Amino acid sequence: ETIILKIDPLGEIDIKIPVEIIKKGGLVAFPTETVYGLGASVFNAHAVSNIYKVKGRASDNPLIVHVSDFNSVSDIAILPEKFEKVVKKLTPGPITFVLKKKEGIPDVVTAGLNTVGVRIPAHPVARKLCELAGPIAAPSANLSGKPSPTNASAVIEDLNGKIDCIIDSGDTPFGLESTIIDLSGCTPVVLRPGPITIEELREIFGEIDIPDFVKNANHVENPKAPGMKYKHYAPEKPLYMFYRHEREKILKLVEKENGVIICPEEHRKLYPKERVIILGKLENPYSIAQNLFKVLRLFDKTGFQVGFIEAFEESGILFSVMNRLKKAAKLWR
Ligand code: TXA
Ligand code: MG
Repeated sequence: ETIILKIDPLGEIDIKIPVEIIKKGGLVAFPTETVYGLGASVFNAHAVSNIYKVKGRASDNPLIVHVSDFNSVSDIAILPEKFEKVVKKLTPGPITFVLKKKEGIPDVVTAGLNTVGVRIPAHPVARKLCELAGPIAAPSANLSGKPSPTNASAVIEDLNGKIDCIIDSGDTPFGLESTIIDLSGCTPVVLRPGPITIEELREIFGEIDIPDFVKNANHVENPKAPGMKYKHYAPEKPLYMFYRHEREKILKLVEKENGVIICPEEHRKLYPKERVIILGKLENPYSIAQNLFKVLRLFDKTGFQVGFIEAFEESGILFSVMNRLKKAAKLWR
């Protein structure tokens, strides 16, 4: 039986029950400002191994360790002095740092690597949970191969009955998983684009490496982030990404094949109104990131047979959105 606990992130945060569950070796799904995480105590190898079991996650795909504040990073990992200032500046927030790990972190957390991903979430519920229950190992709280959950109902859909507790704090603000940057070598390497954009990282770090698998999201030879080699969410039904110069062709297909167009509010009028799902507003591109995974889950539940999603210009947060889209949709040509 899974306890479902509503916690208002803006109210008094009473988190006793989930804290006890984590301390006793249980699994708790909790909100962060990116997506919901599925957490266990870092130092309880058995609990951590249950995360892999419950998600159906490959055992060579490491988890992120969540801590409550900057000072706790050094309990888990070695932060090179030259990066201290920037890390302080970027935290708490939607970014994960890959660092050399300290001894005592069970191998199951890092899938045997000598590095560890560390994140200081800004979400008040996540912070309080980390503060009171200690460092928490957590991947996104979805079944492997499904989109990351951005609200409690998505977590319930995937994990109800399989874990001890689900905290319901409503929709997550960013809706996209954290940016991952590897600081274990000389030059910072972006392993996953996210809410902290490439442009922002360049400004903050100066020189950064952006490997091909981040630039072209699609095919990966020798991935540095172990997660990159696994099949990512693709809906049950066919989903195509298209550029707007293909619109005429797509319009014909959409009627013929009982399809649906997924597009931003600004382009709603370009399509038949009963065949549109709105993703957010271009005017506020963060709204598109926030809705993406929710809409992908929704699409599978509609009666439409095929989806056509508009491609975005690859800059700022929309670069990160396109990174996820390229994995979820086939390019229409
Ligand atoms: O926003 C997020 O990052 C969410 C919330 C819950 O914090 N978590 C999340 O976790 O998205 P997950 O497990 O779905 O994605 C973590 C990614 C995986 O692709 C994994 O391979 C990579 O981080 N990763 C973890 N540790 C790593 C390491 N030591 N070196 C390279 N990549 C690592
Ligand atoms: Mg995930």
